[in-house]
Amino acid sequence: MFMPSFLRFYLVGCLQLTTTLASLQWSPCASNPAFDCATLEVPLEYADPGNGALAYIPLTRFNATVPASQRKGSLLTNPGGPGAPGTSFVLNGAGEGISNITAGLYDIIGWDPRGVGSAQPLLQCFATGGEEYAASSALPAAAEIAYGQFRNQSYLPFYNSALQEFDAAVGKLANACAKYNSSALYTSSTAYVVRDMAAIVDALEGTNNATLNYWGFSYGTVFGVEFIQTYPDKVGKIVLDGVFDAAANAEAYTSQLPNDQLSVRDAIRDLESFCGQVGATGCALSTAPGDLTPDLTTRLVKLQESLSTRPIAVSDGSFAITTRIFSAFVWSFLRVPTTWPLIASAVGALEKGDGNPMAAILKASAADPPTNPRAPATGSLAEWPLQCVDNAPSSAVTLADVTSLVFNISLTEDTPLLNAGLTPLSFCRHFPDTRPKLPNLGASNLINMKANSVLTEQGTHVLIVNPLHDPVTPLASAQRLHSWLPTSSQLVTRRGPGHTTISLASVGLVETIRGYLLDGHLPATEEVHDLSQLVFSPEIQADTLTPAAVFNGTYSDAEMLLLQSTYQILLAFLSIA
Ligand SMILES: *[C@@H]1O[C@H](CO)[C@@H](O)[C@H](O)[C@H]1NC(C)=O
Ligand SMILES: *[C@@H]1O[C@H](CO)[C@@H](O)[C@H](O)[C@H]1NC(C)=O
Ligand SMILES: *[C@@H]1O[C@H](CO)[C@@H](O)[C@H](O)[C@H]1NC(C)=O
Ligand SMILES: *[C@@H]1O[C@H](CO)[C@@H](O)[C@H](O)[C@H]1NC(C)=O
Ligand SMILES: *[C@@H]1O[C@H](CO)[C@@H](O)[C@H](O)[C@H]1NC(C)=O
Ligand SMILES: *[C@@H]1O[C@H](CO)[C@@H](O)[C@H](O)[C@H]1NC(C)=O
Ligand SMILES: *[C@@H]1O[C@H](CO)[C@@H](O)[C@H](O)[C@H]1NC(C)=O
Repeated sequence: MFMPSFLRFYLVGCLQLTTTLASLQWSPCASNPAFDCATLEVPLEYADPGNGALAYIPLTRFNATVPASQRKGSLLTNPGGPGAPGTSFVLNGAGEGISNITAGLYDIIGWDPRGVGSAQPLLQCFATGGEEYAASSALPAAAEIAYGQFRNQSYLPFYNSALQEFDAAVGKLANACAKYNSSALYTSSTAYVVRDMAAIVDALEGTNNATLNYWGFSYGTVFGVEFIQTYPDKVGKIVLDGVFDAAANAEAYTSQLPNDQLSVRDAIRDLESFCGQVGATGCALSTAPGDLTPDLTTRLVKLQESLSTRPIAVSDGSFAITTRIFSAFVWSFLRVPTTWPLIASAVGALEKGDGNPMAAILKASAADPPTNPRAPATGSLAEWPLQCVDNAPSSAVTLADVTSLVFNISLTEDTPLLNAGLTPLSFCRHFPDTRPKLPNLGASNLINMKANSVLTEQGTHVLIVNPLHDPVTPLASAQRLHSWLPTSSQLVTRRGPGHTTISLASVGLVETIRGYLLDGHLPATEEVHDLSQLVFSPEIQADTLTPAAVFNGTYSDAEMLLLQSTYQILLAFLSIA
């Protein structure tokens, strides 16, 4: 029977509005029956839930290990991105790791945020996997610019044209994503994600007033902060780990870019000092070859610069290590200090003219081409458009703004790696100014202190944790968030580098997280904890990106469980990166 589509949607809408809480049908996950999987149906367009269109959010559960009577509820976790699949994160070790840290008292829940992973609709930029793979391969890893030449006036025209070339290549992908116009493109911003999170906890607990327990990492802190402002009365126990600045994120990416470099220099100094402490048996970069200065930062800058005129060919002739490849390589691994022993040997070999060790790591981490190029695209490029829809409209940002900003920030922070962090800025300035119907709160209810008053009145508190030298989400962003929640949060940090606190284990820090998640206990004052995990040591296997963890000192079995579990969460991160 023919029924006009507007009428059909209207009827479905009426039914929907009177429907009770969504229920979840759990069954053993196909990939691993030790976990349960389910799918939650939610409105695709929360600004018009009556139109009947749905989004499908996949969930994965690692069951609490205690008897049902002791169970404390569910704890959601998100690995960030934007665009990282939370179900794989839980399946690949974060479920067990977080469960062990929280004494098995919670069901640990991961979900693929709308638009990504196995969610439907998927935020694709192309119809097929073949086109998606080709576009991804054509995307430059970094801009081909050498920081060592920034003070050389004659280099500036080369600098400008290299940035222009990079920006145009990224812009091509932005245009393709906009043109493909996935139905997830303007319905997957953070405002929508937090409504899904509320729907998930309500469905899990079978009530309309369930509270959220959450450990969010990196971009997952943006979800956490938006949730707190949207649903302050649904705040349970929330850990925000590796804070991405919510206020900057509500503006064009030009506001975020300075944050991205704030702690890069500190992280490079840590690499240098940890490497120097252990010597050549534990760190391949500890002595400089030939007549080079022993200062590691200067050596990295010189190496980056020399590759721009003399790329180092890989012996099978498949490609050469250029400035852009080198920069992207160092920038990616700088955030994961547990990989530094292997990274140090690859950089050390390159310094001596041998590109093969670096090429081997790059080849092992590269995505394989799709077996069937005609199969649908996998949504692997969703990260960039997801970033743009959370930012303010950015088409007014000019290429001249980018070139002068990159120049200024690099010199101010004295960091050579900003050329590897420019994709979001270039992508978003080419992306349409169209934004989802439902706007993000961003930081508006933080800045006006509204979230703080509601949480304080309720007696609920948030735990903010951050490494001191996180080269991606700097301490300054965590301090800023704490200043917006002065009586409803505590800030606890650990020393050293790495992105998010789990990147290097600290027994004091993980005990603080555990105490908070188990009993709601927050330290009375800000705390700074020591690292327990070693970065370089002759005991650490230097031939793998994922060596067994080595800890500093003697720890009880209970402490070792917390330390090993922290590392297990990191390994889950690496498995989905
Ligand atoms: C998890 O717990 C639920 C509820 O007790 C149970 O139905 C389910 O089978 C458990 N899942 C696994 C994988 O043990
Ligand atoms: C300055 O840049 C120009 C152009 O790239 C180059 O030819 C020249 O060697 C550079 N000068 C120095 C001192 O590096
Ligand atoms: C993109 O798709 C939406 C519906 O999902 C439609 O409303 C909009 O007009 C489309 N935009 C373009 C530029 O085609
Ligand atoms: C939710 O509401 C139910 C009954 O309306 C009440 O028993 C329960 O304590 C409430 N839970 C929370 C977390 O407020
Ligand atoms: C870069 O620095 C110059 C000189 O201090 C200043 O004039 C310019 O406005 C800065 N540009 C940006 C984008 O910050
Ligand atoms: C090792 O532990 C000691 C004390 O437990 C601490 O002072 C030191 O900073 C630690 N070293 C590293 C590299 O973690
Ligand atoms: C975590 O607990 C499980 C039991 O749930 C145990 O088998 C596993 O070894 C523990 N993981 C670590 C890192 O100790």
